[in-house]
Amino acid sequence: MSTSASVSPSRGAPRPTAAAPEALRRHVAALLASTKPGLALPGAFFSDDTLYAAELEYIFGRHWLFVASEAEIPEGGDYRTFQIGPWPVFILRRDDGSIAAFHNTCRHRGSRILQQDSGIAGATLQCPYHRWSYDLEGRVIGCGATGESPAEQRGLKPVHVRQLAGLIFVCLAEEPPEDFDDMAGRMTPYLAPHGLTRAKVARQVDIIEHGNWKLTIENNRECFHCAGHPELLCSLFDFFGEVDEGRMSAEERATYARYRAARPEQEAIWRRAGLPWQSIEELSGRPTAFRTERLVLDGAGESMTPDTRAASRRLLGELSEARLGTLHFHTQPNAWFHFLSDHALTFAALPLERGRTLVRSTWLVHADAEEGRDYELEKLTSVWNATNAQDAAFVAETQRGASSPAYEPGPITPSEYMVKLFHVWYEERLRAELNL
Ligand code: FES
Ligand SMILES: [Fe+2]
Repeated sequence: MSTSASVSPSRGAPRPTAAAPEALRRHVAALLASTKPGLALPGAFFSDDTLYAAELEYIFGRHWLFVASEAEIPEGGDYRTFQIGPWPVFILRRDDGSIAAFHNTCRHRGSRILQQDSGIAGATLQCPYHRWSYDLEGRVIGCGATGESPAEQRGLKPVHVRQLAGLIFVCLAEEPPEDFDDMAGRMTPYLAPHGLTRAKVARQVDIIEHGNWKLTIENNRECFHCAGHPELLCSLFDFFGEVDEGRMSAEERATYARYRAARPEQEAIWRRAGLPWQSIEELSGRPTAFRTERLVLDGAGESMTPDTRAASRRLLGELSEARLGTLHFHTQPNAWFHFLSDHALTFAALPLERGRTLVRSTWLVHADAEEGRDYELEKLTSVWNATNAQDAAFVAETQRGASSPAYEPGPITPSEYMVKLFHVWYEERLRAELNL
C-alpha cells in the first residue's frame, strides 16, 4: 500500500535494572513459552493477575507512555493528574512554558497532593492533608503546622517527561529508554505541520473498556473488524497489510478502485504541501516502538466526519489544503493518533485493573477555531464517539470470551500484522526487562 522508509532503530545501551524475583521470572517465562507464533495470545494473558502486575512494573513502569497533549495544560500553573498502575503522577506547565512531571505523592505522609483530574496549581503546590507546600521545581517550601524545616525535606520525585510536536510522554523508569529522541527526531517532520503546539482541546471523552489493556491495543492495531464501524468506513479505506483482490466482493472491489484512483492524487497533494507521507514501520525491535503512515481517505478525503469534509474551517497550524487524508501514528505500549488537516485525535490507553482499561480520546482543533463559528462539536466528534463505543464492545466481548476455559487461540491473519508486531514487542520487552 505504501513504501517503507529506511529504518535505523536506535536500541540504546542496556539499562541497569533491579533483579526481578526468580519466581516471577519463571512465571512470565512459562506464559511466554505457552504462546505460539501466528496465533492469538492464550487466555491467561488476559486473566492472570501475576502477569498483570509484571506488566505494570516492566511495561508501564519502564517505557515511554503518551499521557496528554500540550493543549491540555496551555498556561503556566495548569496541571493534569494520571494514575499509571500503582503510581499517581502529574504533569504541569511552569510559567516559563516548560513542562514537568512528578510523582503525586506527598513527602510528608504520602497523600496525593493534586487531587483533581486537572486544574490550575498557581505558583505553589499544596498538599491538602497537612499543608506541606512545594514550588514548581518540586522543592519543599513549607511544612504547614508540622514544624519541620522545609530545607531539610526531600522534594517531590520527578518523572521523566518529553514533548514531541505538542504530545507529552512520561516514563516512570529511573533510566528511561534512550531511543525516544530517535523517534521524536524522525516523527517531528510528520507531526509538526499539524501545529499541535497551537491547538486547543475541543472535546475529551474518557471511556472504560471492560477488557485487559492488551485487548484494547490489539483491537486498535487491526482494521479486520472495521465492518463493525459503519460511521468510520464513510472515510476510512480499510485496506491494511496484504490486499487480495481475488477474494473481494463486488462492493469491496468498487471501494478498492476508488482507493487506487485517489492514492496518486493524494500523494501529489502531499508532495505539493511538503508533507512527508512514507510509512515507517518500527512497532518492534526497539523499546520506544512506533509506526506512522499517511492514508488517503474516501469521499472528499478531508476528514473523519460523516460527510468526509473538514469539521473545522480553521485548519491546523499553517495548513491551507483541507484534503490531506489522515496521518496515523501508533506508539507502543499505549497510544494511537490521527492527524487530519482540520483536527487531530489522540488516544491514550491506561490500565485500571487487569480487566478494565481507560481509553481517553481527545479532539484537538486550532487554538483560534471557535465552536459554532468554525466547527460544530457534533460533526467533529460523532464518528469517533460511535467508533469508540463499538470498539469498547469488541474488547469487552473478547475479554469475556477469551477468559473461558474453552478458549483456544486462533490464527492472526495477514491484515492483523500489527497485532503480531505488538506481541513481538511485548515479548521482547518482557524478556529484556526481566532478563529472560
Ligand atoms: S501527607 Fe501531605 S502534608 Fe501530610
Ligand atoms: Fe475499531
